[in-house]
Amino acid sequence: MERGRLICGCLRLYEGGLRQAVREGARSYDDLQQMTMVGTSCGNCRVLVERVLREELARLSEESEGPRE
Ligand code: FES
Repeated sequence: MERGRLICGCLRLYEGGLRQAVREGARSYDDLQQMTMVGTSCGNCRVLVERVLREELARLSEESEGPRE
């Protein structure tokens, strides 16, 4: 998986790692914090983390619905 953008500068966490955590079961910001430690220092990355979370959950739900006709 591509590393992507740096999302959390404090912990050096990249978009790809957060997307991977969503694919492994994270469904909320709290889940992502527990699984990756993202946002546990200054917390300034929260908006970006939540955006990545929403995007990845939308992608997962599209994939589970299968291709559209
Ligand atoms: S940038 Fe993520 S905790 Fe500071």
